[in-house]
Amino acid sequence: MIIKSVSFVCSSAKIEQCPKKRLPEFAFIGRSNVGKSSLINRLTGHGSLAKTSATPGKTQLVNHFIINNNWYLVDLPGYGYAKASKVSRCTFSNLITDYISHREQFTLLFVLIDVRLEPQVIDLEFINKLGEDGIPFALVFTKADKLGAGNLASNVAHYKKVLLESWEELPSVFITSSETGQGREELLKYLENVMDSL
Ligand code: GTP
Ligand code: MG
Repeated sequence: MIIKSVSFVCSSAKIEQCPKKRLPEFAFIGRSNVGKSSLINRLTGHGSLAKTSATPGKTQLVNHFIINNNWYLVDLPGYGYAKASKVSRCTFSNLITDYISHREQFTLLFVLIDVRLEPQVIDLEFINKLGEDGIPFALVFTKADKLGAGNLASNVAHYKKVLLESWEELPSVFITSSETGQGREELLKYLENVMDSL
């Protein structure tokens, strides 16, 4: 897929505020600081579209971006931000759950995982919940540039092995870096194929 146009549409604190226009929506989610905004910027080729920061928990709204005038890229709030107050953490998860389960034009979720880390309980819980609820998703490992080839391959293999303890089949998996652009073409190609199959 060639990205011809990208623009920010709106930030929503509730799903009722999301765009009315009916276009397929591809959403991105992950723990705070996983590199979601960086990946979105790299994918779209627009350096500062999504705000990146070294301070976790910055993205607390559902952000819609319209791409090529025919689909929405949706930046969801990060989950598992330990410093968020109980109340705001609860708000995040209601917003996330609401979006994933009630937004009709929602098509597929990309779940971002920091490839450097051991599988985190919160990510595994989130992924398992998606499976139970039959939510279509793909896994996207981020920050691949931070590991050497050997560690990268073994971390990914380890993650898959852990998933296979509770899953019969693995979802689609992408290995990406927002620094180098690794995985960008594959991810966009996959997204295009999903769009074509709608
Ligand atoms: P929140 O919105 O705060 O939850 O974070 P986020 O998931 O959007 O992460 P963000 O893109 O802001 O990135 C967090 C930090 O990781 C920043 O310092 C980025 O520069 C860095 N980072 C993100 N992706 C990569 C990557 O692929 N490689 C490297 N080396 N650093 C990255
Ligand atoms: Mg962000």
